[in-house]
Amino acid sequence: MSARAIHSAADARRLAKRRLPWMVFDYIDGAAGEGVGEARNRAALDALTLRPRILRDVSERSLATRVFGAPADRPFGIAPMGMCNLAAPGADLMLARLAARHRVPHGVSTVASTPMEKIIETAEGHAWFQLYVSGDGSGSFKLVERAKAAGYRTLVLTVDVPEVGRRPRELRHGFKMPFRLGPRQMLDFALHPRWSISTLLNGRPGMANFEMPGYAFDRTESRARADWQTLARLRDAWPGQLVVKGVLDAEDARRVKQAGVDAIQVSSHGARQLDSAPAPIAMLPLIRDTVGPDMPVFYDSGLRSGEDVLKALVGGADFVFFGRILQFAIAAGGESGLGQVWSVLSDELSISMAQTGLTALRRENLGECAALAAP
Ligand SMILES: Cc1cc2nc3c(=O)[nH]c(=O)nc-3n(C[C@H](O)[C@H](O)[C@H](O)COP(=O)(O)O)c2cc1C
Repeated sequence: MSARAIHSAADARRLAKRRLPWMVFDYIDGAAGEGVGEARNRAALDALTLRPRILRDVSERSLATRVFGAPADRPFGIAPMGMCNLAAPGADLMLARLAARHRVPHGVSTVASTPMEKIIETAEGHAWFQLYVSGDGSGSFKLVERAKAAGYRTLVLTVDVPEVGRRPRELRHGFKMPFRLGPRQMLDFALHPRWSISTLLNGRPGMANFEMPGYAFDRTESRARADWQTLARLRDAWPGQLVVKGVLDAEDARRVKQAGVDAIQVSSHGARQLDSAPAPIAMLPLIRDTVGPDMPVFYDSGLRSGEDVLKALVGGADFVFFGRILQFAIAAGGESGLGQVWSVLSDELSISMAQTGLTALRRENLGECAALAAP
């Protein structure tokens, strides 16, 4: 029922807001500070226009692309997100099945609620492990070895969380893992019985990758000690593809490239870190120019539709990722809600390609047909 009511990402968010406890909704939806950075990026995306083209026979269109040389059925994948099973029990594996079905990467967070081994198996190999380097890094490098042993071939180092950003909406609810159960939280759960009962029946989601002997994890532990030397060490330790996620500055992008990294991910962490950061969609063309045409550049943050995807591809991204809206889709309608949002996004992209005269997502065509014009 709910899945059929979803015709846009905004519909999924609206339904999720009804289903989820306030605390969980605000954790997923929340942004840093007062949400100025989030609004800035939205405004920057809205200000971009696509060039409408006519009479080009766009009857046959393909959304397929390649990422690190491998075929992908869509130019968008799943951003790494911690504790997805808060959206609904089994969310991590719903995302993994989606990745397998469409041959797109599923970012598996350091703080995923399901063990990384189970996720890559379910995703039939379409999974990338996302790493935070915490504390002195010794635990994090153990996770790198574990990811290697589990068969991961792509590692994503997230670098924009030297400290976890302050997100007042989650702080106001006393969001903590595991949950602290005070009167306010009890009321919140009681008012959202469907979520509370299913979450209770399935067990409270934990942080499965830390259930390793001798490993104590604190979600808010400082990641402030990571530096360029850490990146060099990681490059030596990781034989597969290495992505650095959370780059918003051209000078940093140049240095990341010099460090021998395989791809750069332009991202503001979905506006969850530095409220005053520039709009990532506005930094994308500059970063693309800085690293040149051959280095893979990925993008996430603030994408809400197929047209947004096209704008990011035209702006220089080779591949993009969705975050929150996939969790809202699951909260709204479970696995069929997720499938529904995925097909909405696919349809939106396909239709916008037709309207801009595109039949394929090759860079040369993107440049010609969908040039970003002044608003
Ligand atoms: C609830 C939530 C948890 C997240 N957890 C992580 C994480 O563990 N690691 C990471 O690199 N990024 C994390 N992110 C950021 C996403 O990977 C991505 O950058 C962001 O969600 C994209 O923006 P969007 O949500 O506007 O699409 C998280 C985002 C959300 C919303």
